[in-house]
Amino acid sequence: MTSSSAPTVRENGTGTPLVLLHAFPLPARMWEVQLERVPGPAGDDARVIAPDQRGFGTAPLGDLPPSLDTAADDLADLLDSLGVERAVLAGLSMGGYVAMAFARRHPGRLAGLVLADTKATTDTDAARANRERIAAAVLERGSVDLLLEERMAENLLAPGTEPELTDTVRQMIAEASPAAVAWAQRAMAARPDSLDELAALEVPAAVIVGELDTVTPLSEARMMAEALSDAELTVIPAVGHLSSLEAPETFNAAVRALLKRVK
Ligand code: MLT
Repeated sequence: MTSSSAPTVRENGTGTPLVLLHAFPLPARMWEVQLERVPGPAGDDARVIAPDQRGFGTAPLGDLPPSLDTAADDLADLLDSLGVERAVLAGLSMGGYVAMAFARRHPGRLAGLVLADTKATTDTDAARANRERIAAAVLERGSVDLLLEERMAENLLAPGTEPELTDTVRQMIAEASPAAVAWAQRAMAARPDSLDELAALEVPAAVIVGELDTVTPLSEARMMAEALSDAELTVIPAVGHLSSLEAPETFNAAVRALLKRVK
């Protein structure tokens, strides 16, 4: 396998390029509702682009060492291949970490930023050790079952979520490959603090968080919104970590409001 990764890309609409960056360990398929609706009734409010990130969905993992910088550079390559110079990035959780890495490495290519259910701070030592425990376990067992059970137990979705959505999320997690899960855990463990980069950004931004998100809680969202010079914070009531799936209408409205602020 080569060191480069050609992600599978879903695309819909025309207008301002908007790249949706998926969470861990889900594929770009998590953005189906946003792909369909964010371009608006005439389909010309946004060119929505949702790539599978390295190792997930149908994107090859490649052989580069784990790093979110690599995932950010994959995205720059993707924009090149699509003929897009600048784009609005919207990342949820791990997707947000990749968006922040992109902002650090390719700032001139960022037209706006949506940070959803994510955080700009680094992991604690305990969180890093836990990621390594999971990475080693899934590789050793050749199965992501352990991650699946632990993730679902973490209340990714708010209590009372419809069983259909819970099943869909379980299914998407179950499809992740052990190698991609281990790579991404190690890449996330190594990420730096991004609060200073956020403070230096001059593009419009939106921060979105589910009120009941316990993985990347409201306190983290507030920190990012305060660091950014031009950010609007949307807190979605009664929703957990996967806000784009749990409350797509409110999520999409916040994204569409951000698109109107982008020049
Ligand atoms: C995600 O949803 O992408 C993950 O919870 C991110 C993380 O593990 O920090």
